[in-house]
Amino acid sequence: MASLSLKNLNKIYDNDVQAVYDFNLDVKDGELIVLVGPSGCGKSTTLRMVAGLEDITSGTLIIDGKDVTAMPPKDRDIAMVFQNYALYAHMTVYENMAFSLTLMKENPYVIHEKVMAAAEILGLTDQLNKKPKQLSGGQRQRVAMGRAIVRTPKVFLFDEPLSNLDAKLRGATRREILLLHKRLGATMLYVTHDQTEALTLADRIVCMSMGYVQQIGTPLELYDTPANVFVASFIGLPPMNFFDALVSGDTLEVEGLSIPLSEEEAGRLRPYDGKFITLGVRPENVDHGSDLAIKVSGCENLGQTTLVHGTLAGHKITAKLREWGSYAIGEELSVSFTRMHFFDKETTNRI
Ligand SMILES: Nc1ncnc2c1ncn2[C@@H]1O[C@H](COP(=O)(O)OP(=O)(O)OP(=O)(O)O)[C@@H](O)[C@H]1O
Ligand SMILES: [Mg+2]
Repeated sequence: MASLSLKNLNKIYDNDVQAVYDFNLDVKDGELIVLVGPSGCGKSTTLRMVAGLEDITSGTLIIDGKDVTAMPPKDRDIAMVFQNYALYAHMTVYENMAFSLTLMKENPYVIHEKVMAAAEILGLTDQLNKKPKQLSGGQRQRVAMGRAIVRTPKVFLFDEPLSNLDAKLRGATRREILLLHKRLGATMLYVTHDQTEALTLADRIVCMSMGYVQQIGTPLELYDTPANVFVASFIGLPPMNFFDALVSGDTLEVEGLSIPLSEEEAGRLRPYDGKFITLGVRPENVDHGSDLAIKVSGCENLGQTTLVHGTLAGHKITAKLREWGSYAIGEELSVSFTRMHFFDKETTNRI
């Protein structure tokens, strides 16, 4: 296994589109990194530069201490698993998994050993003689992972490997990938646009927008201290509520309503006294209380929690209450914010 270092990577495509700007990341040996962000933000481009499937316009890529920036893909010792797993339809599961090793003219006994070991890890031992079309989507995805495992690469790359699976299977396969990561101790770079997948899988998340890295950190860091409005709105579900708020001494005014600030919060906001900031509040940080009144416009019960949609002085807001509650449309719900995030209106950066 290997460490990985991406230094000042830029990608400009032939049509002058710059897809990635100054990407910097050090991946530790055995770390699982998830690149997350909306469609078109440059995730696949970054992954493909690591794989060698796209030229690196400028910057340096280092695998295990070796500069591989200009090295062809086949020499990089990397295995990639794609969204459309592209199995060979005329080959059995066994043959699909053995294929790359056969191409490399590996000893047949070694091939057999590696395929059987990978099949065991992935629970495919009983499926080895089947053709891909006789398998479920989840099993096919596991065969695609098996093809990567048998090569014992230095680094595994995954590009949205679960997006063709239904929600239940996606959850199950996600847990398999986590187990696989633990068992192999493998260094992995994993791309997804799904923030839940990022939060549940990653050792560290790289959150991207429009070609730029917005924040790198553990799932908890991105959830708890998002670096800017983009990360705050992208990570967390339902998304964070945002309001324009005026800092006024030790209170915050939102649409004419006053919210008390703690001493610490007031201190942090002192440089903004008399100015507008962006206030962010996660739905799970809106709780029963006495500071503000929400006018209810809808209510969804989700078992142990209830989502309450409504307005706060005319502004849309969603609250996630830890109870099975029932609220009528038009009803007033008294709440307080248990945690608030503050952002600079101009830079959108966290205060
Ligand atoms: N071969 C190409 N030639 C020119 N532009 C490209 C090429 N491939 C991608 N792009 C552009 O580069 C940008 C980043 O694309 P990329 O595929 O990396 O996004 P992504 O984050 O993987 O998105 P998605 O979630 O939709 O897969 C987009 O604006 C895209 O249109
Ligand atoms: Mg992509």
